[in-house]
Amino acid sequence: MKTVLTSSSIEAAQFIKHGVVVAFPTETVYGLGADIFNETAIAKIFEAKKRPADNPLIAHVSSKDQIAELATEITETAERLIQQYFPGPLTVVLMKSEQVPDIATAGLDSIGIRMPRNDLANQFIAACGTPLVAPSANLSGRPSPTTWEAVYEDLDGRIDCILQGEPTEIGLESTVVDCRGEAPILLRLGSVSLQEIQEVVPQASLISFDDDVETRSPGLKHKHYAPHASVKIWNGQNEAQTRSAYIGISLPTQEFRLRKIVSSVEDYAHELFEFFRECDREGIDTIYCEPVEESGIGAALMDRIERASRAGN
Ligand code: TXA
Ligand code: MG
Repeated sequence: MKTVLTSSSIEAAQFIKHGVVVAFPTETVYGLGADIFNETAIAKIFEAKKRPADNPLIAHVSSKDQIAELATEITETAERLIQQYFPGPLTVVLMKSEQVPDIATAGLDSIGIRMPRNDLANQFIAACGTPLVAPSANLSGRPSPTTWEAVYEDLDGRIDCILQGEPTEIGLESTVVDCRGEAPILLRLGSVSLQEIQEVVPQASLISFDDDVETRSPGLKHKHYAPHASVKIWNGQNEAQTRSAYIGISLPTQEFRLRKIVSSVEDYAHELFEFFRECDREGIDTIYCEPVEESGIGAALMDRIERASRAGN
């Protein structure tokens, strides 16, 4: 199939109305969207990405009113988080309403919902006239795309349309919080930190490994965020010597084939996934990532780096 590139949200929305999939920008990473009420279209997302069928998708809305048709109940904790962080890089997990097809949530009775704050994303979802389900628009297991070109690199010929926007503002995926109980459980770290969640709901906590991680957050068990190169946390030693790369805030004294010096933790988060892709294009075999303090977005950044380093290839 030919992948149409457009910067018009109206044109892109026509594809959704015809029951096919469209990649679009959000403030976190690019997503691959389909009409949440169209099972055939949703199946195309799984096919295009080669995504495991047991990994649920996040619903994206353009107005808070749309949440009520997707969830059976908006809990008190969800209400408070929505008030504070919607639109923005936060996904709340609630009980799914009957109308939402099972394929959207990989058979789970819960559903993750978020409202992006990126203008083009909102115009696009509004023009579609329906909430969209959208995973990150990468081939499954690859780093999430932060530019439309990265989407094109993975999915050209596999999807019908890419809505071309700017590189994404944040660069890491949304924070996912299970809001079904009284004490929310943070399932995936993102740019809204645990601390910021706790400012709104003090009893919130991070999912612990004693919990049934795989049942609560099926996405966590799959290989994630990984470039082809092996990722290592920088400890001051370049053991790989050749074909190695470095990304970090401090200037390393050793030589690297490829090197990216970032100006802050936010900039680091913004650049990480694109740097992984650049390393793959350049045939790098080891990527060293300087560790940062695990506070604010630094916690999400270290989470992605550690996952990539455990992917073991
Ligand atoms: O920032 C983002 O969230 C991006 C943009 C496109 O919105 N989307 C994204 O989607 O990262 P995806 O599919 O790559 O990651 C979704 C994560 C997975 O780890 C999945 O398991 C989890 O959210 N998730 C989705 N629905 C869930 C549910 N009902 N219960 C628990 N976890 C859920
Ligand atoms: Mg993803």
